[in-house]
Amino acid sequence: MNKSLRSFNTFGIEAHTEELIEITSVLQLRTVLKKITHPFYILGGGSNILLLNDLKGVVLKMSIPGIQIERDFKHAVYLSAGAGVNWHQLVLFAVKNNLGGLENLSLIPGTVGASPMQNIGAYGVEIKDIFHRLEAVEIATGKSKIFRKQALAFGYRNSIFKNKLKGKYIITKVWFKLSKPPHRLHLSYGAIKTVLAGAGIENPTIQDISNAVIKIRSEKLPDPEEIGNAGSFFKNPVIKKKLFAELYEQYPDIPHYPQSDGTIKLPAAWLIERCGWKGKRVGNTGTHVRQALVLVNYGNAKGAEIYTLAQEIQESVCQKFKISLEMEVNIWV
Ligand code: EPU
Repeated sequence: MNKSLRSFNTFGIEAHTEELIEITSVLQLRTVLKKITHPFYILGGGSNILLLNDLKGVVLKMSIPGIQIERDFKHAVYLSAGAGVNWHQLVLFAVKNNLGGLENLSLIPGTVGASPMQNIGAYGVEIKDIFHRLEAVEIATGKSKIFRKQALAFGYRNSIFKNKLKGKYIITKVWFKLSKPPHRLHLSYGAIKTVLAGAGIENPTIQDISNAVIKIRSEKLPDPEEIGNAGSFFKNPVIKKKLFAELYEQYPDIPHYPQSDGTIKLPAAWLIERCGWKGKRVGNTGTHVRQALVLVNYGNAKGAEIYTLAQEIQESVCQKFKISLEMEVNIWV
């Protein structure tokens, strides 16, 4: 079997795999893991990967379904979702049922199973804020294990599954602790305030926030259905005070976000734009016209072409600002 992965990655890269197996239950996953002899790859929504070549091995497409209200308390609800559930469908379910906590994370592409791996985040909220626990199958033994929040060592676009436990477990189900009204709303992000004010909304509901986030994302970020991309290609770098002081002297308009440990987070988009890359097209690839942090596929880009552009961007940012940008997208070779 030689299966095209073009429709399985939001970059829309044409690459092939020897076999693709759709996983719809934990039981099936265990059986497949027992039988499998080739190297294999775990695929969710394909929204955070860059395929460099055809894959030598099997792709396990995680499609475990199901959204369920597990426990319903006076002030909170425990909601679970299978790894294969589309992230935005989960957000819509929560918002429709007036369960708070996911609304700022509206319209993020990808699946529930992949969401805790990189602690997805947007508009002032990260998954760690509402995460309760997850169930994952250990690849070596096929046994299921529960991981609670503390065990995940969540960080900025980071968790234990990107470090110590990388390649050891497959996430099958995730539980979230969501609020019942009155909700604690996250309105600190400037763009949300602007959209709500523009619509004349003074006391927003979680539905209003979700709508605002959908509007902001749709206006700024390219729709993968129309133009291939994987969201932010790099992480926002966190630098030491000393380097920041040097940069600030040279670039007093540099946007910056001081962190609680004294380090400073800078928007990678700004650094990339200042290096002249924003909206620039190089062959079949380039950076998005409205968001320099998003690399795009104009049609027939090869993974390697996008990867080369990413490396060129890293080099110019390093030369100009002495900062190494770390790729946020996972590179599959
Ligand atoms: N900016 C520029 N040029 C640009 C775009 C932005 O200079 O082309 C500057 C502006 O100063 C702006 C700042 O960068 O104020 C931040 O931009 P934005 O609000 O768009 O956020 P970001 O830091 O670029 C992060 C996440 C996004 C998330 C947004 C909103 C990362 C790597 N990315 O982007 O997440 O949607 O914040 O919260 O942290 C993703 O991870 O795929 C993703 C899209």
